[in-house]
Amino acid sequence: MNKPIVELIDVDKTFTVHNQNGVVLSVLKHVNLSVSEGECLVLDGPSGMGKSTVLKLIYGNYRASQGQIVLSPHNGLAVDITQAPPRTVIELRNNFMGYVSQFLRIIPRVSALEIVAESLIEDLDRSGMDWDQSLDKAKDVLSQLNIPMNLWNLPPATFSGGEQQRINIARNLIKRKPVLLLDEPTASLDKVNTQIVVDLIQQVLHQGTAVIGIFHDPELAKALATQRLDMTQFREFT
Ligand SMILES: Nc1ncnc2c1ncn2[C@@H]1O[C@H](COP(=O)(O)OP(=O)(O)OP(=O)(O)O)[C@@H](O)[C@H]1O
Ligand SMILES: [Mg+2]
Repeated sequence: MNKPIVELIDVDKTFTVHNQNGVVLSVLKHVNLSVSEGECLVLDGPSGMGKSTVLKLIYGNYRASQGQIVLSPHNGLAVDITQAPPRTVIELRNNFMGYVSQFLRIIPRVSALEIVAESLIEDLDRSGMDWDQSLDKAKDVLSQLNIPMNLWNLPPATFSGGEQQRINIARNLIKRKPVLLLDEPTASLDKVNTQIVVDLIQQVLHQGTAVIGIFHDPELAKALATQRLDMTQFREFT
């Protein structure tokens, strides 16, 4: 078996809701999972089972209450993100893992084209690419994702849900990373655009990216999954 690139070992997550008299919610208990290069792990389960929480734990948005989340870059040392300092988290986000959340975080006044090209900024010196070349690459990705050319120079604040979702996908796919976390990436897309995104996901899987995804559409989940995980088993009912 291939060496896991992402591994969760006995991970628990509880939330303390401070504005509700400190009520403690136990959302995940003893989560174990692992994915290797080129695999697509699909998280299944009804609403509220903690699927999005798993992606946020891996991306370092939430901190695990217990357990380890081991990320193993190909040419680097393995890191437990539950213990990593902020600069390591930033470095991992730049080079190791992408995260397509369901909603795009809008940056006022920055155009769609720049938002996508900015994903390459970190590499400009290293790769010998300049800003104009990264804009060209961003144009390629936006065309691939069917974003009308007359929108490229506008900030996405006024874009439709599906257009914003595709900008979010574009900024994560412009740079190849070993791990891609997808939270319902096609939820707002029509059939044609869903197929375009599915083809792109297949392409990165073939290139060896490990994907952990949540897909609303069972057909889509079936088409993409190499492994499935039923999240109801990690729920502690009290
Ligand atoms: N920051 C938070 N503070 C408190 N509770 C939270 C927080 N984030 C998530 N939760 C709770 O954790 C549970 C799981 O949420 P999560 O978003 O992971 O579910 P999900 O499986 O992705 O559901 P859906 O299919 O509806 O997107 C929910 O009950 C939610 O209220
Ligand atoms: Mg969710």
